[in-house]
Amino acid sequence: MKKQFVLCIAVLSGMAGFGQALQQAGINPFAYKIEKKLIAHKGAVASAHPLASLVGAAILKQGGNAFDAAIATQLALAVVYPNAGNLGGGGFLVGQLSNGKQLAIDYREKAPAAAHKDLYIESNGQANTEKSQLGHLAAGVPGTVAGLFASYPYAKLSFDKLINPAIELATNGFCITAAEARGLNAIQNDLKKYNTQAPVFLKEQGWKEGDTLRQPQLAATLKRITEKGKAGFYEGETAQLIVEEMRRGNGIISLEDLKNYKAVSRTPHRFAYKDVVIVSMPMPSSGGLLLNQMMKIVEDKNLKSMGFHSLASVQLMTEVMRRAYADRAEYMGDADFYPVPVRELVTPGYIKMRMKDYNPEKATDSKQVHPGKPLPKESDETTHLSVMDGQGNAVAVTTTLNNSYGSRTVIGGAGFFINDEMDDFSVRPGVPNMYGALGGEANSIQPGKRMLSSMTPTIVTKNGKPYIVVGTPGGTTIPNQVFQTLINLLEFDLSAEDAVYKPKFHHQWLPDELVTEKGFPEEIKMSLKTMGYQLARERNSIGRTELIRVLQDGKLEVIADRRGDDSVAGF
Ligand code: GLY
Repeated sequence: MKKQFVLCIAVLSGMAGFGQALQQAGINPFAYKIEKKLIAHKGAVASAHPLASLVGAAILKQGGNAFDAAIATQLALAVVYPNAGNLGGGGFLVGQLSNGKQLAIDYREKAPAAAHKDLYIESNGQANTEKSQLGHLAAGVPGTVAGLFASYPYAKLSFDKLINPAIELATNGFCITAAEARGLNAIQNDLKKYNTQAPVFLKEQGWKEGDTLRQPQLAATLKRITEKGKAGFYEGETAQLIVEEMRRGNGIISLEDLKNYKAVSRTPHRFAYKDVVIVSMPMPSSGGLLLNQMMKIVEDKNLKSMGFHSLASVQLMTEVMRRAYADRAEYMGDADFYPVPVRELVTPGYIKMRMKDYNPEKATDSKQVHPGKPLPKESDETTHLSVMDGQGNAVAVTTTLNNSYGSRTVIGGAGFFINDEMDDFSVRPGVPNMYGALGGEANSIQPGKRMLSSMTPTIVTKNGKPYIVVGTPGGTTIPNQVFQTLINLLEFDLSAEDAVYKPKFHHQWLPDELVTEKGFPEEIKMSLKTMGYQLARERNSIGRTELIRVLQDGKLEVIADRRGDDSVAGF
């Protein structure tokens, strides 16, 4: 087992003050531990926060399945992990049922009906990315609550049981970790600037580890959802509060936008890789398609013989990333609005042709790499959770507010951050979004359209059964991280821990630079430089991957990323 930390000392005398659901589950929100690794026999959850993972595991113990646990974990994250857990954002779920059925649920935010292509273009013709990233106008119509209810038909327990722990955490509070205190302190000025009413997250004297965070307005919103279901969010008082907040801050989400929001069931993006099948998210996420392109390009390249973090494997994978992301910028967007050539971008002929100009001796110049010409048909902040139960159900969920704490605007009276997902659209061709990613017509703003995402919740199956459940936050780095984690496991035979924990790297075509994570081998960086690679400033950390792998004896190996407060729970 990895080391465990007790975070806070109990401030209440007995468990009774925590609420009945938490008490029954034996969860103390004022004294909890971070657990990084677990071997589970019957079911497990890995998520960004220990309390959320404990809630999910308790639901499994109470007879819930992986879908119950995923719903309860997301609701708990909306309370205990406000920088990315959310009611005011959106997400994607990829699942496999015990009967083998696979599904993808899209609850991505949508552009409000009043949005248009030039929403962020000022009268001088310049794009105003402050408005697409911060404050009311940055918000897309949130999808998370619709997503929870779209996945509920696959669950077993009453919705009350799934939401009660979150209500109790919001009502009675929980103690925050050092990382949460740092995160909240870093946004205090933005909270003043982009809110019309003082939110609970604002604290003049600053937050510190062990402080109690109580969110009564959020608790009331959760109770309305308990009473009225989806309508408790998209209609009635909560919808009214969202629209009033928009009016006070010049946002454009309307009552109709909220009432009309629907989560969509989609066919998962699926492809074979050697002896496994990879099941991931289709458009409007670029994740599944990018992963497919990259894995298919390397499938016959014998990465294994090159070795993990060898110059040859890192250089090849970088060039693969460069080419796939060039296609992302040109072709990918909401396929309900734009004809994304999904199958054409992964035909064997195209995959072969894409690396024609690859030179293993030197960096390709991104200026010379253009989005490919598909052949005619041959055929900062986000959060991820991985869940498996003892009945053969597996769920991978990635949800997001986009930036950490979204637009930094909290809906007055309703107590949750609203997203700044509009920045994931291409606000104008040639203007990079907050991840430096470019886009064109495929991802331009249109009313009701979903913005292109990189979220890549993924299940790998072997002989038809779930084998790996994986995903991570990290904006445009997400597909590259899932790619590396899978290659680390499937080709380099790394342990599950190493596959997640070893330093990662990232290239996204433009800007033409290779990003490496702290701890990445210096000698490889030096060699890459001599081959012509531009190295970006090293990042302290890239993503936060949550992984479950089924071992040969059927037990579950569960890994929470070392890079945050991420934690596992199970039994
Ligand atoms: N907001 C990050 C993503 O959806 O990719």
